[in-house]
Amino acid sequence: MSKPKEQWGTRIGMILAVAGSAVGLGNFLRFPGNAAANGGGAFMIPYFCALLFLGIPICWAEWTMGKYGGMKGFNSCPAIFGVLGRRAAWRYLGVLGLIIPIIIYMYYVLVESWCLGYAISFLTGWIDLGDDKSQYAAQSVEYFNNFVGANQDGLMLDGRIHISVVVWMIVFAVNFYFIFRGLSKGIEKFCTYAVPAMALCAFVVLARVLTLGTPDPSAPNLNVINGLGFMWNPKPVDGEASWLSALLEPKVWMAAAGQIFFSLSVGFGVIVNYASYLRRKDDVVLSGLTASATNEFFEVCLGGLITIPAAFVFLGVAGASQTGTFSLGFHTLPVVFEYMPAGRFFGFLWFFMLFLAAITSSLSMLQPAIAFLEESLGIGRRASVTLLGLLTGLGSLFVIFFSKDLKALVFLDDTVGTIIIVVLAAVQTILFGWVFGVERGIAFASDGAQLKLPSFFGFVIKYVTPAYLFFMLGSWCYKDLPGYFRKVQEDQVIFLSFCMIIVVTVFLLILIHIGGRKWQAERVDAVGTQEASR
Ligand code: ALA
Repeated sequence: MSKPKEQWGTRIGMILAVAGSAVGLGNFLRFPGNAAANGGGAFMIPYFCALLFLGIPICWAEWTMGKYGGMKGFNSCPAIFGVLGRRAAWRYLGVLGLIIPIIIYMYYVLVESWCLGYAISFLTGWIDLGDDKSQYAAQSVEYFNNFVGANQDGLMLDGRIHISVVVWMIVFAVNFYFIFRGLSKGIEKFCTYAVPAMALCAFVVLARVLTLGTPDPSAPNLNVINGLGFMWNPKPVDGEASWLSALLEPKVWMAAAGQIFFSLSVGFGVIVNYASYLRRKDDVVLSGLTASATNEFFEVCLGGLITIPAAFVFLGVAGASQTGTFSLGFHTLPVVFEYMPAGRFFGFLWFFMLFLAAITSSLSMLQPAIAFLEESLGIGRRASVTLLGLLTGLGSLFVIFFSKDLKALVFLDDTVGTIIIVVLAAVQTILFGWVFGVERGIAFASDGAQLKLPSFFGFVIKYVTPAYLFFMLGSWCYKDLPGYFRKVQEDQVIFLSFCMIIVVTVFLLILIHIGGRKWQAERVDAVGTQEASR
């Protein structure tokens, strides 16, 4: 590779960037809803199993593969998979490491802009649920539906100026500004400030929630302790008698695994790319563990203690049972802030914190594709940023247009943000454990490592993790694949969203083909030069 290689500036900056990628909307909105809907405390058993047997082992494998690829001069998933697997087929499989961050970015940036939009709404008082408490919930849903255009397709792009579209444009531009500035001067520098600021906002909101006590003396049961109990006491799912039944539900295990992947940004194509910017003597074991532990702290200790307990304290069981990501975040919480003393300030702080969490994640979704465009087409930063801006901008507009009931957004999240992530994770475990080789991988990871990989890592990544993943994918295909395709055939918006995923995939495969020829030619040149100099 002739171009100078980008690298992280400092170790702490790199860890903050990886932690920033991991900590996002998944921690604060997806996790509490998922846990409360899937057995509360009982959910934590499959959750920690997924963390130990899937999340952390695959995370270490991704850090190792990424660093190895980087040492060979590559930064994108297809090129790195090609180097590790030494066959063209692996290069093409690397497309998964591109479609995941690119397509998730298309809708994630939209939700990110809603968070900023809501922060502004709280600050300016645009969000006003009226004086009639019995109408708060309905008003909140109405405000959200108008804000995102959930009542009708095309509503947000009907020629009028919608504030949410303006905020989306600003957020989109800010993302690309930092991406344009580059890895160290853009992403790393931004995360160095944004991640601590996000943590500070989260701690302030947490302190507010934990000191709420019993806000309504006429309803003594609605207090913080009972709110925490509602979130964390093990409970049965689907009307079963015992909470242990939650552990026999495959969907609870799937939800736990999906949560771990989404939340850690594992199986995203992001860590492989970020780790490729490490230097030879940089550690991967301790860094990977530190970033994962930081993510878990934000998820369980902050995400798990704020939203549902706050909803319980003011709205009781009915409010705290709204566990969908959007209903919890954008329907229920504005009502909670309406009841809370100084709610306008805390509402602003909460949504601004979500925005910071989201932007440090969305930046990490753009970098893998930038690296790929630069190394496959041999183009510079300006051209790659323009090309990716056009592609993701069109995709994002697609999601904005098909806004009715957020159908396009939810389908893309179910397909790419859940299923394809598990597929990429499975592909990576085979590549690392069976093709590249566990012993080779462990030896490479140990170079510069400040912590020894635990002795069971080799066994887990070679046997346990793939078996876990293939069992989960197999059961999903057996039970849900026919229903999935039926949905694609029957619903026009879902069909179009499916086609969009295919079109993006084919486009990227063509670029991988072009890049592959270039990388091969460069390798032949390099070998020729070496031989000539002997
Ligand atoms: N890991 C990021 C999140 O949790 C994508 O939102």
